[in-house]
Amino acid sequence: MRVILPMPGNEGMATALAEILDAERGILEWRRFPDSEAYVRIASDVQGKRVYIVCTLANPDPQMLTLIFAAAAARECGAESVHLVAPYLAYMRQDMSFKSGEAVSATHFARLLSQTFDSLVTVDPHLHRIGDLAEIFAIPTCVGAAAPLLGVWIAQNVDVPLIIGPDQESEQWAAEVAHWAGAPYVVASKQRIADQQVRVDLPDLTSWSGRRPVLADDIISSGRTMIEASRLLAVRGIAKPYCLAIHAVFAPGAFEG
Ligand code: R5P
Repeated sequence: MRVILPMPGNEGMATALAEILDAERGILEWRRFPDSEAYVRIASDVQGKRVYIVCTLANPDPQMLTLIFAAAAARECGAESVHLVAPYLAYMRQDMSFKSGEAVSATHFARLLSQTFDSLVTVDPHLHRIGDLAEIFAIPTCVGAAAPLLGVWIAQNVDVPLIIGPDQESEQWAAEVAHWAGAPYVVASKQRIADQQVRVDLPDLTSWSGRRPVLADDIISSGRTMIEASRLLAVRGIAKPYCLAIHAVFAPGAFEG
């Protein structure tokens, strides 16, 4: 028997998953004490059951301790196994030490999750210099692909699209989206100058005139990449783009940008 347990903010997804999987939708009680420490209680019977905790990790630092407590509580309540369903897997972009002394967060975060859960289900993780989750996770991982869904949506909703990946790393998603959209794609190059500042160089798009640009990336965080790529398209007098991303993280300030 499977129990789907949502962390706060993930209730809708957990309910949908429980319905699709014909599983039990469990209840996790959660609150913060006045000093901001977390209180967690498994309010469902999980004895002898496989527990799937649903928590997309768009805000990983405050989420992580609570997740660890929830997984531990599920085990203490007799769960047969405890798994994490995290559509957005955080910390994958710091996948190497760019300056001496930098923590390679992807590796450390993966180790922490591997110590806490029996397996991980995620969607399109940001794999760049790390080629496969198995390189950093010690537990089984399962990766869902959202790019085909975006491609199909584009095919149904955008006339004569041109898919544009806003940076080199986005090529894997742009190519996949383009394949499913039945459209051509190009890739821009990007240099991140600061957290909130990027420089994007678009390729020559004259041979694609008449096509509607669709910017496709895996993550929107500060939004700067999408904003800068859109600005450059406008400067060139190209039609307003659609902006599609797999993970809409929207860091604080993204909407104001
Ligand atoms: C970078 O490697 C990712 O693929 C995204 O392009 C990036 O995370 C977007 O970040 P932001 O929205 O902060 O520009």
